[in-house]
Amino acid sequence: MKPVNIGLLGLGTVGGGTASVLASNAAVIARRAGRQIQVIHAAARGLGSDRPEGTENVDITEDAFAVVNNPDVDIVVELIGGDSPARELVMQAIENGKHVVTANKALIAKYGNEIFAAAQAKGVVVAFEAAVAGGIPIIKAIREGLSANRIQWIAGIINGTGNFILTEMRDKGRDFADVLAEAQALGYAEADPTFDVEGIDAAHKLCILSSIAFGVPLQFDKVYTEGISKISQEDVTYASELGYRIKHLGMTKSTKNGIEMRVHPTLIPEKRLIANVDGVMNAVLIMADRLGPSLYYGAGAGANPTASAVVADIVDVTRSLTTDPDNRVPHLAFQPDQINDTRILAMEEVETAYYLRLNAVDKPGVMADITRIIGENNISIEAILQKEPVEGESTATIIMLTQRIRESQMNQAIEAIEKLENISGKVTRIRVESLSSK
Ligand code: HSE
Repeated sequence: MKPVNIGLLGLGTVGGGTASVLASNAAVIARRAGRQIQVIHAAARGLGSDRPEGTENVDITEDAFAVVNNPDVDIVVELIGGDSPARELVMQAIENGKHVVTANKALIAKYGNEIFAAAQAKGVVVAFEAAVAGGIPIIKAIREGLSANRIQWIAGIINGTGNFILTEMRDKGRDFADVLAEAQALGYAEADPTFDVEGIDAAHKLCILSSIAFGVPLQFDKVYTEGISKISQEDVTYASELGYRIKHLGMTKSTKNGIEMRVHPTLIPEKRLIANVDGVMNAVLIMADRLGPSLYYGAGAGANPTASAVVADIVDVTRSLTTDPDNRVPHLAFQPDQINDTRILAMEEVETAYYLRLNAVDKPGVMADITRIIGENNISIEAILQKEPVEGESTATIIMLTQRIRESQMNQAIEAIEKLENISGKVTRIRVESLSSK
């Protein structure tokens, strides 16, 4: 059978990795795909004579549209990232009747609905395994492996850079900026690393997971997003004293009132497997009604792991070239006419437990004032810890763990506590999830 021709857009960390994997594992990939897969055309800027492995005989241009419009290209692999021109290139590829493989989570999260509709109309596939959790085949697991189940919730460590930073802060007491610079040098971080540390990258991925888990349209703008830049060494230490780890978690959950989509730092009991996922590794924990809990673990960023997912998609698309378009796996796991508009909950409607840290003047009656406000808001305290004031200081640190309560109620309690005369500064709030299977 004639080889499948790839047009590769981008030869950076992931593009270079993809060319290299396709070349070095060509024989085993062909045995699986049933055909040779070859890169015939690639687009990259400012490459000079520095060609990645596997592109020695490839026609390389600076004009990405030339690749998308090349009649000999069967599959366009978009590894440029970002919104534009990635969106225009993908839409043009679809218009040209070409299949697309992309690792671009921002693109899928923000424009996936229109991209999939266009692909559906043209009878082509847009595959995006590498967009979520790097090399972990999580899209395939949910879309195909769990199709018998009603999914209840998903909790994931889905940003490698953020997890790398939190791990190094906890284990080595390293400085935030210093670890971030290392993550950038290792090719883990986004072009704009605030996407990693402020949770935007994780929110892109979470909204994709939510859609394929619950059959709702992609709604990136409805993800509640909080980053890790305000996590202090102090909180990492106190969490540990209480038997928890702080992880930057993406959570999506189906509740009777609607669907939760949220990304924020979270305390997780240290005995949970997912609490022990460190460094650049990602993990996704899924609670499904028939399977129960299942955990997917692997490298979430970097050239080879991400290329592994990109190439798996290329193989999948190659295998499906001869399949009737109506019998292919639907892009968002549910048949397009079965995608429904279940309500997405605002963060104020979400119920979760909390870790609170506050500084109080060390004198009689202060604790009573705090607990009175907590009680008035129907919040139950699970654990409380008071640290002696540091020598020479007049305020003591109080740490509380609460039971589950609606976020709006916790907002009211925090507002009232911050108004107390004997409380100094802001209350630090970190959400707590038990992630138990009960
Ligand atoms: N910047 C991302 C991360 C890359 O650190 O997880 C993989 O999507």
